[in-house]
Amino acid sequence: MSFSLKPYNTFGLDVKARDGMVVRDFAMFPAAFDKIRKSSAGFIVLGHGSDVLFKGDYDGAVIVNRLMGVEFSEDANTHYVKAQAGETFHDLVALTMKKGIYGLENLALIPGTVGGAPVQNIGAYGVSLSDFCRYVEVLDLVTGKVDRIMGRDCGFGYRDSIFRIPENQARYIITAVELAIPKDWKPETSYAALRSRNLESPKEIFDFVCSMRKIKLPDPRVLGNAGSFFRNPVVSRETLAVIQKSFDNVPHYPAEGDPDMVKLAAGWLIDQAGCRGINLGTAGTYENQALVLVNYGGATPEDIVNAARHVQGRVEDAFGVRLDPEVRIYGEKGECQL
Ligand code: EPU
Repeated sequence: MSFSLKPYNTFGLDVKARDGMVVRDFAMFPAAFDKIRKSSAGFIVLGHGSDVLFKGDYDGAVIVNRLMGVEFSEDANTHYVKAQAGETFHDLVALTMKKGIYGLENLALIPGTVGGAPVQNIGAYGVSLSDFCRYVEVLDLVTGKVDRIMGRDCGFGYRDSIFRIPENQARYIITAVELAIPKDWKPETSYAALRSRNLESPKEIFDFVCSMRKIKLPDPRVLGNAGSFFRNPVVSRETLAVIQKSFDNVPHYPAEGDPDMVKLAAGWLIDQAGCRGINLGTAGTYENQALVLVNYGGATPEDIVNAARHVQGRVEDAFGVRLDPEVRIYGEKGECQL
């Protein structure tokens, strides 16, 4: 194990990979492929490692994507913004704002890189990457060519895309994303936290979202974390009705595509189960947002896993609802279960 992953996972866990490489331009890919070929346990591509949990050392190769650059173009109705995968997503949001291109403001301060954004279809405050993604540019390891996968073919869903499927992870390295942003800007303020705040301009929305995020998401340089640790669970209306008997204020939202199902707020469930701001030693949940698991200092991977299982158990006991991780979990041989 020769490649430290400590700088490349925002939980700040002291874990290693068998081999690894930081790729800063296309000319470095042949050397990276060499490492991939030599790895019997496959490979992982990381951006900032802001949505991963390593359960221990990883026996494969890690490619850290640091391809940089942003290009702008436009036609009569649309701005096109093509960003290389290693760009920090928030920097891209801030740059578009500076250039008077509006639409991404609800996605301010989402941790991670542009290359990570399509993988779990990042989203916040009523907007998702899929709303703007024109195409994802990939290096296809099967054909050896650079290819474009159009947004409609990316299988985008709630924190989901075709890039999460194991065979695609072994096939595609995301090199860039092009966004199509309509010039006809409309504010997206339907999300509960934004409604009734009289946010009128893109700048007001951007500033408000930044202030919310600073409260709810701890700075990983201070408190290691990977954003929301669990997905918001989708349950049947019967399950909702059972919970409502004891908690008539349970937050719930329509589940996309299925009128019989509803989405619950995992943070609320964890909070009500008495697990907001808990510290089990070195790991626990954040005091301002129960959905965020944190490394309170010196946590091992096992400590984070134990905290996650503790939270799952408490929510299951209280509500009979199973929480599934939203972060991607890696063990010695690759992606695995909690
Ligand atoms: N809530 C509590 N206690 C908590 C946390 C939340 O009662 O400790 C309640 C809130 O009051 C609210 C509801 O739960 O009624 C939902 O909370 P919030 O609006 O903060 O959003 P969330 O569902 O917890 C999701 C995303 C976040 C995204 C926010 C804002 C997921 C898993 N998480 O969080 O995304 O920033 O909405 O749109 O979908 C991420 O994926 O890493 C992430 C941070």
